[in-house]
Amino acid sequence: MNKVINIALPKGRLGEKVYKLFEKLGYGCPALLENTRKLVFEDEKNGVRYFWVKPSDVAIYVETGVADVGVVGKDILLEQNPDVYELLDLGFGKCRMAVAGKKGEILPLDKTIKVATKFPNIAKKHFTSKSREIDIIKLNGSIELAPILGMSDVIVDIVETGSTLRENDLEVFEDIVNISARFISNKTSFRFKTEEIELMKSRIEKELYND
Ligand code: PRP
Repeated sequence: MNKVINIALPKGRLGEKVYKLFEKLGYGCPALLENTRKLVFEDEKNGVRYFWVKPSDVAIYVETGVADVGVVGKDILLEQNPDVYELLDLGFGKCRMAVAGKKGEILPLDKTIKVATKFPNIAKKHFTSKSREIDIIKLNGSIELAPILGMSDVIVDIVETGSTLRENDLEVFEDIVNISARFISNKTSFRFKTEEIELMKSRIEKELYND
């Protein structure tokens, strides 16, 4: 009898896309698509238990072992550096992490830069590698407001279509790293549920890369 795999899915568009993929691969759990406020869904027949979690919490659920596997953006992995295995790049949920600011503005080289971001570790690492002094202003959303209102010189944030920047007269100054969704596993789960997790990984790989 195969062991049940506990899967942390990021709530929202990315999670729905991931679920559709998993369903296609034999990991369906129809109740999950019913519009309820439930957070845990189990399908005994297919050997899966899903949790809807906040996207920025997926890696925490997987690192602690509450979930055996999960899908999370590379941005979260770079920011949180969790102790998990990164098994696959899913190639979707693509965007980039960038430094952006007011259109046409040139940053003075000799001054401490005020950086507003949801990703303080990524921002620190990036500016340290350039030997630039920064002050971080940690925000939780609508990061683009900070330079508009003069609270920061720049932002470090996700750019997907670029429309949030465009519509607020901001522009990318510098790309930091490309981001996409990753399939991750808890390290202990990978040891004790090797067969199930390897099977899941190979099914995903086959579907995404061998068609
Ligand atoms: C993210 C990100 C940008 C926007 C980029 O915000 O922080 O604001 O998406 O996407 P775009 O390049 O396609 O415009 P999100 O929608 O997650 O909301 P938030 O402001 O609450 O972080």
